Amino acid sequence: MIVLGIETSCDETAAAVVADGCRILSSVVSSQVAVHRPFGGVVPELASRKHIEAIVPVVRQALSEGGISQAELEAVAVTQGPGLIGSLLVGFSFAKAFAMVRGLPWIGVSHLEGHINSVFLEPDPPAFPFTTLLASGGHTSIYHVTSHTQFDLMGQTRDDAAGEAFDKVAKMLDLGYPGGGIISKLAQEGDPTQIPFPRSYLDRSSFDFSFSGLKTAVGRYIRDHSRDLAERIPDIAAGFQEAVVDVLAYKVIEAAVCKKCNRIALVGGVAANGRLREKVTVDARKKGISVYLPGHDLCGDNAAMIAAAGYHHLANGARSDFDDDVYSRQAI
Ligand code: KG4
Ligand code: ZN
Repeated sequence: MIVLGIETSCDETAAAVVADGCRILSSVVSSQVAVHRPFGGVVPELASRKHIEAIVPVVRQALSEGGISQAELEAVAVTQGPGLIGSLLVGFSFAKAFAMVRGLPWIGVSHLEGHINSVFLEPDPPAFPFTTLLASGGHTSIYHVTSHTQFDLMGQTRDDAAGEAFDKVAKMLDLGYPGGGIISKLAQEGDPTQIPFPRSYLDRSSFDFSFSGLKTAVGRYIRDHSRDLAERIPDIAAGFQEAVVDVLAYKVIEAAVCKKCNRIALVGGVAANGRLREKVTVDARKKGISVYLPGHDLCGDNAAMIAAAGYHHLANGARSDFDDDVYSRQAI
């Protein structure tokens, strides 16, 4: 089944053509980073307007790069939530209209389910069940995944998401937006042991996270070292990154051990972090656990993961209705 995927939940306008939920024929991501950078974060009103400008050219590009005509498409999958309502509505309304005009089956997909399914777009995907860490700008959660469409939530952040913490620390240091890539690059030049930032493990048997204390500690350190801050930035970046990575790696490995599961997948924007990929892979191997990592392009928001997740619902016979609406929050 050839599925057109559409994703507009935040600040990327994305469209992709995916065959049978696993073979990417094309994946186009039009980033709005330059639009939001001067504001240090996503401005929802601007994001929706930019999606409206980009959605038609991005879909056209995905079809042409995939070598697929509109008539060859067999279904449409689109992000229904969670995300920014004004942004979601652009992709969702486009998908509805497109499916209605072409008489195609269509399905609204959870963005989180999309991230979890991103790992099936790689050549050697994990078998079920597996434990997954979904770490992005809006979410940091651990799931026990038993099928393409079924996940049990084992733990989640009680305050900031991991990506949000990266973005906020980059903002405090005036490094630009989005912060994850910038901090991880600077961290390569720093010493992660120089500044012992706190790790919040909460109750060791819980798989929940908390990053607000770490963020406050970084803020305090910046305030107390304002005179020679510039030369300390690489060590701050390395120390902060190591504190986040230590907790993420510990919790996802413990969650897998708790479920007697020997497969872990890392997904979401923060899964592009080199140090996180390295630490989880090395530490998990010591416990006989294999780690599955989507390529960098599939970690960040994209529409191929939405087409992949949607395919499995469509194959199970699920369909959305034309009066279905988007949603901003989701608890899974
Ligand atoms: O999944 P994603 O593209 O969008 C959301 O669903 O939120 O994730 C974006 C987040 C941002 O907070 C960004 O700073 C973070 O992922 N990120 C990273 C890295 N690359 C992106 N965080 C840490 N290290 C990275 N290399
Ligand atoms: Zn995302």
